[in-house]
Amino acid sequence: MVKQPAKILVTGGAGYIGSHAVLALQQAGYEVVVLDNLVYGHADLVKEVLQVELVVGDTNDRALLDQLFQTHDFAAVMHFAAYAYVGESVSHPDKYYRNNVLGTLTLLEAMVAANIKQFVFSSTCATYGVPAEVPIPENHPQSPINPYGATKLMVERILADFDRAYDLRSVAFRYFNAAGADPQGRLGEDHQPETHLIPLVLMTALGRQPSVSIFGTDYPTPDGTCIRDYIHVSDLADAHVLGLEYLLQGGASDRFNLGNGNGFSVREVIETARAVTGQPIPAEEHDRRPGDPPALVGSSDRARTLLGWQPKYADLKQILTHAWAWHQSRHGLASSVTP
Ligand code: UFG
Repeated sequence: MVKQPAKILVTGGAGYIGSHAVLALQQAGYEVVVLDNLVYGHADLVKEVLQVELVVGDTNDRALLDQLFQTHDFAAVMHFAAYAYVGESVSHPDKYYRNNVLGTLTLLEAMVAANIKQFVFSSTCATYGVPAEVPIPENHPQSPINPYGATKLMVERILADFDRAYDLRSVAFRYFNAAGADPQGRLGEDHQPETHLIPLVLMTALGRQPSVSIFGTDYPTPDGTCIRDYIHVSDLADAHVLGLEYLLQGGASDRFNLGNGNGFSVREVIETARAVTGQPIPAEEHDRRPGDPPALVGSSDRARTLLGWQPKYADLKQILTHAWAWHQSRHGLASSVTP
């Protein structure tokens, strides 16, 4: 049987994870339209690299969504559009509930009205809060410790209710720490402002900032710094295609962790980046950053078993090598640093 190319709406497709998912969808033969309000996304990546239709707009704009769903025949929606700064979610929770919860609810209502019943959702390990066990399984209690995690958990709840009420089936992916860049260097991480460890470490290697901060050295971990499960963004993107195909084949709503199951401390990340970049990367020790759980490592057995997902770039060195290539091409080496 010949597979019909399905058309997929990707919200937040101009962002870091969304853009890599668009690339993976294209490679799998899907037609893609991106909806992005460009508050944090990059139009140049969508237009010049991905070369797909970019609709500039907001998921809170019901009229725009209705028009979009009348114009295109979408088989499914992949929803990445969200604010994702944990610290900002604590200081400005209203912004997060409005965008991440109300925006998603508006999108889901428009989908039901247009009879689009398949949805792939970007959730997060931040829905678990401080875990009672690691690696964290999907059935671990969800008790987020910041509004960002709460907004994602609320959407997971809305999705369960929309399935029961409207037969809208969904896959929610709870990511651990997305990292790395397209292995061919076409896309990568470019947040403004940047708060994530790996890009900040690499910006330090580029000489764009004098040092990287280590937030907290007194955690109950072997070297006192926080442990995270870094997962390559292209492996995340592949999982989204598998999740989509699972839904298109009639799979029931489900949720999956996406991580490598290996934890690395902040010090280990910096040390590995020194080896990859050949740069000294000065580091300064600081107090803990509020809201950081000591260790987050996920069990992704469910995605492997049910979706056949197999991460290709599980090695931290490889993740950093891809991110480093991207950072050098996007941000260039500063004159103070010897290449
Ligand atoms: N860190 C530093 N220095 C920095 C930046 C970060 O030491 O300059 C530390 C953090 O304290 C944390 C680790 O590096 O221990 C990773 O921090 P990131 O900001 O890179 O990532 P987070 O773990 O905070 O956040 C990620 C996602 C969020 C998600 C969260 C779940 O980016 O969207 O995981 O906890 F909510």
